Amino acid sequence: MPMYSDKVMDHFMNPRNVGEINDADGTGEEGNPVCGDMMTFYIKVKDNRLEDVKFKTFGCGAAVAVSSMVSEMAKGKTLEEAVKITPSLVAQELEGLPKNKYHCSNLGAQALRRAIRDYAQKKGITIEGLGPEEKGEEDEESEE
Ligand code: FES
Repeated sequence: MPMYSDKVMDHFMNPRNVGEINDADGTGEEGNPVCGDMMTFYIKVKDNRLEDVKFKTFGCGAAVAVSSMVSEMAKGKTLEEAVKITPSLVAQELEGLPKNKYHCSNLGAQALRRAIRDYAQKKGITIEGLGPEEKGEEDEESEE
């Protein structure tokens, strides 16, 4: 039985939106202290929308696939819509992740939120659905 869905394999083998945005409007970094994997998201915002999203990931295959999927899901969304991207939504879009890789999906959504928070702080704006701190930003684990 294959461990990863075709979609995960596709995003891992051909990750979308890899790279940096030099004049990014916001950047967000997230790491997993257990495995040591790291992810950075860069966003470009225009008229309250994520005009461009790029990422750099030093991590496992699932983390690469997750970052790629998050970047695709976020691109073109308003900031309010983008902060609603949760790890479980990302895993769902990837047609599932093995249970022991589920934590990898937290990194992507959190790094994106951090980039959005960075932008909001620079601009002095509040974004609906984006709390003041990183704490409690874990997935709601709403479904299995
Ligand atoms: S094992 Fe570290 S992010 Fe997947």
